[in-house]
Amino acid sequence: MPQVSEEGSGDGRLTAAASVVKTLSALRSAGIDTARAEAGWLVAHVLGLNSALDVWRTPDRVLTAGQFARLAELTDRRLRGEPLQYLTGLAGFYGMELVVGPGVLVPRPETERLVDLALEAYPGAGAVCDLCTGSGAVAFALARELPGAPTVVAIDIAPRALRYAALNRRRLGVARVHLVVGDLFAPVRPAARFAMITANPPYVSPAQYAQLPVDVRDHEPGIALLAGDDGLSVIRRIANTAPRHLTPGGVLLCEIGSEQYVEARNILAAAGFRQIAILPDHTGRPRVARATAPRRRATCSAVPGRDVTGGGRAAPGVL
Ligand SMILES: C[S@@+](CC[C@H](N)C(=O)[O-])C[C@H]1O[C@@H](n2cnc3c(N)ncnc32)[C@H](O)[C@@H]1O
Repeated sequence: MPQVSEEGSGDGRLTAAASVVKTLSALRSAGIDTARAEAGWLVAHVLGLNSALDVWRTPDRVLTAGQFARLAELTDRRLRGEPLQYLTGLAGFYGMELVVGPGVLVPRPETERLVDLALEAYPGAGAVCDLCTGSGAVAFALARELPGAPTVVAIDIAPRALRYAALNRRRLGVARVHLVVGDLFAPVRPAARFAMITANPPYVSPAQYAQLPVDVRDHEPGIALLAGDDGLSVIRRIANTAPRHLTPGGVLLCEIGSEQYVEARNILAAAGFRQIAILPDHTGRPRVARATAPRRRATCSAVPGRDVTGGGRAAPGVL
């Protein structure tokens, strides 16, 4: 970042560069590790620019009184712990810009690993189901990247979270992603079969939750994080119900907590899954469980491209 004085434009109003310096200093004094990047993003946001780099293309631009007041308000909210992405309303994920805000989890960079592994594991054809979809991060990444443009059904129990997913579907123009409100597979027809099921479910125990940064606990939805006394209740339910919604040879990929790999393997094995693998994230920590559907008598398969959320009747909860 160039050296800039904090004096701004000389007439008392702040330039873009001086605003970054002032915001940086406030965020730094609050101990925010990523203060430098965040200050640039906040100033870019109030100026209506696409990136922090753009701020430095016109560093002498003077903020209007309205922009300055907005920056002060956002900086204050950030200092009180709101995630930066809630303030700017956007989060980057897998090369996409997703709309986020209060009521939906901010997609985490480590979940991009779930997408990478799902792209590798996809059997090549057939519908996909993304459970616990939140803003739709995983569902949209897969819809954009998978060959053959398969139907993607994205389910979440929280209507508020799915409203962000609906905004993202419109922004990204991926109509093939069907957004459904419901508890895991409850909203899909019993006969619906998917070639691949992905999930980044809640997997935090109350004890772990108490150790999370206060910013996360105070601002991000508890339903996105907490999962029973041991943090495994949702993973257990997914393992027990996914087999009846997978085609023969279909795969399940589920993000897990880095200390849950032994339990996750046992849960999947007890549910009859085969070829269970616990796969590392980019830092080598075990973060994704991958498993192949249990062997069973073949029943009805979902026809790729067909709406598996409701067939001929009205699909309850489809946004
Ligand atoms: C860890 S967040 C993941 C969100 C998104 N997949 C992502 O990676 O950013 C978990 C999500 O699961 C949803 N959820 C929790 N319990 C659920 C359930 N029983 N059925 C469906 N969704 C559930 C929450 O509302 C939340 O959006």
